[in-house]
Amino acid sequence: SERDSLYIIMNFAKDHYRDLLMKSDEGKSIGLSYFRERGFNDRTIEKFELGYALNEWDNLTRTATGKGYSEDMLEKAGLLIKKDEGRKYDRFRGRVIFPVQNLSGKVIAFGARILTKEKDQPKYINSPETEIYHKSNVLYGLYQAKNAIRKEEFCFLVEGYTDVISMHQADVENVVASSGTALTEDQIKLMRRFTENVTVLYDGDAAGIKAALRGIDLVLKGGLNVRIVLLPDGEDPDSFSKKSGSTEFKKYLHDHTQDFISFKIGLYSKEASHDPIKKAEAIREIVASISVIPDPIKRSVYIQETSMLLKISEAVLFTELNKILIQDR
Ligand code: CTP
Ligand code: MN
Ligand code: MN
Ligand code: MN
Ligand code: MN
Repeated sequence: SERDSLYIIMNFAKDHYRDLLMKSDEGKSIGLSYFRERGFNDRTIEKFELGYALNEWDNLTRTATGKGYSEDMLEKAGLLIKKDEGRKYDRFRGRVIFPVQNLSGKVIAFGARILTKEKDQPKYINSPETEIYHKSNVLYGLYQAKNAIRKEEFCFLVEGYTDVISMHQADVENVVASSGTALTEDQIKLMRRFTENVTVLYDGDAAGIKAALRGIDLVLKGGLNVRIVLLPDGEDPDSFSKKSGSTEFKKYLHDHTQDFISFKIGLYSKEASHDPIKKAEAIREIVASISVIPDPIKRSVYIQETSMLLKISEAVLFTELNKILIQDR
């Protein structure tokens, strides 16, 4: 079938990019040394099947068609771009390659990172949607993480490819990434097949916190328990795990994991402690998050916690909660 052909051609491309990384002069001197500079060891490069696409217009297309693959299939796989004027070229050129595997380990997409800082060039180029790749229901790293998630009984959710990879190298393997797209309901359902517990570990910048806030409500709505780790400003799991080393990094994660209520209180607490208006705002924010939790027992446990932490009566909180629940019905 066409799907099978797509799996086969994606596997061919993955092997080709790996060969180029490990064996070609350009791949070794540019791609491999880039990964080495980022601290990725051979085992990691192997485990994530990392590769390199030569800086040529049609290296993959020429190699693949030479082996009997059709341009039509290359295009359907998102590997070849054909323009109306008849121009055609490989989608991924002069970039390091991060294959995306499905649950059974088959490659269904690629992310490709630029090596130099070029303006008007995106840092990452990703595969388009294809017959075998629907990005809204894929979590990067899930194939490599699934056993560890079952064993640890929770999963870290990070933003990017290199966060997942560096955490494996720091010996934290229960980690997946939403990879640039805002988290979706389908991704949460997918995670739910492996665990009920998610720890959001987004970049320590304004964008990361904003995305975490949005992610929290979505995860809660999906019926999962959500915890947060805030990273120091300007760090992401990749940079921070390298700076700290495995032992320190794991200790940081352990010591800085908080539930979503403490996290939200922390965000508002600086102002909230001496500003009643801000405090009221914080309370509404927290109750709004609690209101999306499907399980009424969990809702009341969280109401109790909020009551304790913010020193406000449970009755007031339940009134506010019920107001929201009735509105949303
Ligand atoms: N992303 C993307 N396209 C971009 C920028 C980002 O698809 N132009 C996705 C990638 O999956 C990336 C993730 O969003 O891994 C997080 O983005 P960012 O934090 O900017 O990149 P990092 O993963 O930190 O990459 P690096 O460390 O290589 O800079
Ligand atoms: Mn489909
Ligand atoms: Mn970021
Ligand atoms: Mn990042
Ligand atoms: Mn990074």
